[in-house]
Amino acid sequence: MRVLVVGGGGREHAIADAIARSGGAEIYAMMGFRNPGIATLAKDCLIARDTEVREAVRFATRAHVDYAVIGPEAPLEAGIVDALEEQGIGCVGPSRAAARLETDKAFCRGLMEGHGIAGCPRYRVFYDTEEAAAFIAESERDLAIKPIGLTGGKGVRIIGEHLNKEEAIDYVKALKGGVVLEERLEGEEFTLQAFVDGQRIVPMPLVQDHKRAFEGDLGPNTGGMGSYSLEDHMLPFVSRRDYEKALSIMKDAVRVMREEGTPYRGILYGQFMNTAKGPMLVEFNARFGDPEAINVLSILSTNMTEIVEGIVEGDLTESDVSFERRATVCKYIVPEGYPERPRRGEPVLIGDIGRARLFYANIEERDRVLYTLNSRSCAVVGIGDSLEEAEQIAQKAAESIKGRVRFRRDIGTTGLLKRRIEHMERIR
Ligand code: AMP
Ligand code: GLY
Repeated sequence: MRVLVVGGGGREHAIADAIARSGGAEIYAMMGFRNPGIATLAKDCLIARDTEVREAVRFATRAHVDYAVIGPEAPLEAGIVDALEEQGIGCVGPSRAAARLETDKAFCRGLMEGHGIAGCPRYRVFYDTEEAAAFIAESERDLAIKPIGLTGGKGVRIIGEHLNKEEAIDYVKALKGGVVLEERLEGEEFTLQAFVDGQRIVPMPLVQDHKRAFEGDLGPNTGGMGSYSLEDHMLPFVSRRDYEKALSIMKDAVRVMREEGTPYRGILYGQFMNTAKGPMLVEFNARFGDPEAINVLSILSTNMTEIVEGIVEGDLTESDVSFERRATVCKYIVPEGYPERPRRGEPVLIGDIGRARLFYANIEERDRVLYTLNSRSCAVVGIGDSLEEAEQIAQKAAESIKGRVRFRRDIGTTGLLKRRIEHMERIR
């Protein structure tokens, strides 16, 4: 089997690694720069922007690939799945129309409201930024401000958290295109990812990501600084009932997409806020999370290639998907100054990472030396029988990486988990 992996980050290295572990598959990679981890696993690489759909099709047909797994959202929006499928290449990733669940936040909220899907916060859509500014000025509640289109995870601003009302008004006025304003949700966030074959949905372990740049959840939002999952695949601040409710929100979305004639195939990522009233949907993503993919794919114990076939052929079953009952802690190593002014071109020295596993991200290799680029450099993941063990493995590995880089020490620690549990107890 020949599989094209699109995208060059840590998530895509984890996807390529899971395919390689399945055995018997040849990997072809398309990425914007040469990710050294993916390049090692791939038979051939195309270095091109992942939105260059025509180049992707040319490369894939020339290499006679059977399947493609699309890592990031931008190529989905550019229609890469529609174009590859026209050539008979089955894709793990939704069509452009189905990807609107992520790429168009107004579409997503409209779908939820229109079909009575639970977990939808109160929201308003504005295409006129002056009207949006007036709404903010009159609103007595804190709001989340979300540009409708893709922003690389960095466009959302929360009043009372990132900015005050006056700053919020300036922010929306400066936005181009539409904006969704929605009630600010309070609680603990968690990620539920699932494999979807158009109809069936098979969930993966719960993960908690950390968006803020600095320890203690301070500083600006990033693509994600690290994440953890527990050996029982649940989180202690998410009850069985919360979990079932979150999963049913995802199932409803998949059912409605199918009924509407835009079946959803690929990975569905649900970002939830567990509130006093249960889980509310913060957003859907039409792909794996990064770093969350690294957590779950590191403990995937069934064949990724069979999952790929199941998704594409529409006959995915529960038995295709199984995960080791182990905890994972992933820590991203990022350039100093990330996300605002990342120090690019700095050498990174990877020391003894012990039992951790390493995933390369936005990093390049020249003459056997690794250098930072503009975004997250690489991730280490510790896998253990308990969170403590996984965290210690990840922490030691992260400390062994030298250069003008940094990481969050608090991710996956029991102290942090305890604060999450206490927070949930306070609001319930
Ligand atoms: P997004 O770019 O949609 O992933 O949003 C980035 C982050 O903003 C989320 O991970 C949440 O932490 C936060 N966020 C988004 N929507 C809301 C909301 N309605 N209430 C509170 N926080 C939110
Ligand atoms: N970890 C957040 C995301 O992938 O969007």
